[in-house]
Amino acid sequence: MKKTTRVKMPQDQDISPDMSVDVGGLKLKNPVLLASGTCGYGVEIGDLIDLSALGGIVVKGLSLKPRQGNPPPRIAETPCGLLNSIGLENIGIEAFIRDKLPWLRKINTRVIVNILGNSQEEYASLARRIDGTDGIDAIEVNISCPNVLAGGLAIGADPNAAAGVTRAVKAATGLPVIVKLSPNVTDIVEIARAVTAAGADAISLINTPLGMAIDIDKRRPALGNVVGGLSGPAIKPIALRMVWQVAGAIDVPIIGIGGISSASDALEFLMAGASAIEVGTATLVKPSVAIDIIAGVRDYMKKNNFLRIDDLPIPRD
Ligand SMILES: Cc1cc2nc3c(=O)[nH]c(=O)nc-3n(C[C@H](O)[C@H](O)[C@H](O)COP(=O)(O)O)c2cc1C
Repeated sequence: MKKTTRVKMPQDQDISPDMSVDVGGLKLKNPVLLASGTCGYGVEIGDLIDLSALGGIVVKGLSLKPRQGNPPPRIAETPCGLLNSIGLENIGIEAFIRDKLPWLRKINTRVIVNILGNSQEEYASLARRIDGTDGIDAIEVNISCPNVLAGGLAIGADPNAAAGVTRAVKAATGLPVIVKLSPNVTDIVEIARAVTAAGADAISLINTPLGMAIDIDKRRPALGNVVGGLSGPAIKPIALRMVWQVAGAIDVPIIGIGGISSASDALEFLMAGASAIEVGTATLVKPSVAIDIIAGVRDYMKKNNFLRIDDLPIPRD
């Protein structure tokens, strides 16, 4: 029998979507990152999954000097999310660069360092230290820290303080600067506008909203610190709403974070206007979830003929 050549109809064509994104100068092979604090310094999770499959990894928040963190218990489970009051325990920037970064440098993925401080000067010193360091691709600035100068208010809740920290970090580094916003504010758009005007290359949101749980048998708060940050599925609608609001108000790229545990969750954030996403608590439940999310987003794009991640946002009218 004569062999026939099958003519491919357009819908049969093997369209390979371009998963790469440019987030304020940070070029990622795909839009999926691991969120700070939920993947250690990389080595810890690197034994469990292939980190080179990811767009990047945001390492645990680092301060100038090591920090002990808060008293235990520091984790409490709720029916729909996790409460944590780790208190930003970390090994400090020098130990990270000396002991952890050499391993990370060998992995073919982007490394983003999350930084925290109590003053503009501390943030600027961290950014200066990171600036000339090989193997670090961007800085994520965690502004959800108490500002001692402003009497313990989170820097991220005060537009002037948030803008000041952003300006100080931008002046200290040539790396892309991503400012990570706290949801514990009345108007997230106001803070987003302030840090954008101060030069942020990108914005990531959200960090954890404050919550609390009580152990009724002990008749005490479940966390040693009484209150903690809520993460996981419970916060997804809040995070999505904030990403949508911010994407409608500012021009810099957004990284969506909050309760993402599946490809459809990630797609919701990309459709709301995020250019990339971070996966946090879901990684603690299933370490390989971010890799499944990349495959799921790619499948969706293929099925629906989307060629680029930038084609995903939904119309606003
Ligand atoms: C145990 C734990 C530690 C965290 N540590 C940090 C941190 O050091 N710096 C930071 O910016 N965010 C930190 N976060 C917040 C996450 O990066 C993320 O913004 C938040 O958990 C929401 O995403 P998720 O619902 O996917 O977990 C931490 C979250 C958890 C659960």
